[in-house]
Amino acid sequence: MLICPVCKKQLSKSGGSYVCPEKHSFDISRRGYVNLLQSQSPKNHGDDKQMAAARREFLNGGFYSRLRECICSNIKGSCVADICCGEGYYLEGICQKLSACSSDGSTYGIDISKAAVDAACRRSYAVQTSLAVANCTALPISDNIVSTALSVFAPISENEVYRVLTDDGILIRVVPGRDHLIELKRTVYDNAQLNPVFDNTLAGFELRGAENLRYTMRLDGAQTRSLFTMTPYFYRTSEKDRQKLKKLSELEVTAHFYIFVYNKKTIFPFG
Ligand SMILES: C[S@@+](CC[C@H](N)C(=O)[O-])C[C@H]1O[C@@H](n2cnc3c(N)ncnc32)[C@H](O)[C@@H]1O
Repeated sequence: MLICPVCKKQLSKSGGSYVCPEKHSFDISRRGYVNLLQSQSPKNHGDDKQMAAARREFLNGGFYSRLRECICSNIKGSCVADICCGEGYYLEGICQKLSACSSDGSTYGIDISKAAVDAACRRSYAVQTSLAVANCTALPISDNIVSTALSVFAPISENEVYRVLTDDGILIRVVPGRDHLIELKRTVYDNAQLNPVFDNTLAGFELRGAENLRYTMRLDGAQTRSLFTMTPYFYRTSEKDRQKLKKLSELEVTAHFYIFVYNKKTIFPFG
């Protein structure tokens, strides 16, 4: 169930809005998402329209389908929340998997970016799905209902994930591996670095499994530029360095992911 960001009581659909018992009301957008973001910090608006479009373009090329399959093979239970879902690529695959296994699956896609959630509405979901604009530090989801929480290349709030997960729920977290996109970085930067060692400890969770997925992708120039535009490097790179990708006609790029699967610890770790 989605919950009200103001009073934390359950929201229910009423016409074109979500309403709580305290009569706080949130319009459902034309495309079908609800904006439950309480404070609009100019510092954190998430991905913009250009990044969301580049992400869609690149992911639709199937280059991360092996990651999506790996995520789907780890899903537990029938209620899944994709936290920082972006434009919905993984959620779409998860819904297909849930619909093939059970008739009562339900999912949540939450992201702080309106552009990303708007784009996520344009995918098709094979089970009941609620899409909301919200901060991962204040998830608009009831306590103890999610059987699998997913976090792919995204910030995470351990206590919020802990709160929404059932006691036997799991968290799947995907982070960039050491070699992820190294050739792309070498094309753009003079002193490109491998990714640093990742600290996989999370308060409230114990690691129950880890997978190392690494392969190369042969990209044409346009695919390389979409990939670059969907990464955080895009806005951190000078126009001069970005120009290096404009001339590129193809590139072989390493995709490298660490996929961590966690159990929730039974002792509440947050004061
Ligand atoms: C690198 S993208 C990954 C998107 C998606 N998980 C994927 O892999 O396709 C990170 C996402 O996190 C979102 N984001 C950043 N900060 C956030 C926050 N505090 N709460 C919710 N979403 C956030 C961004 O808008 C963006 O969509």
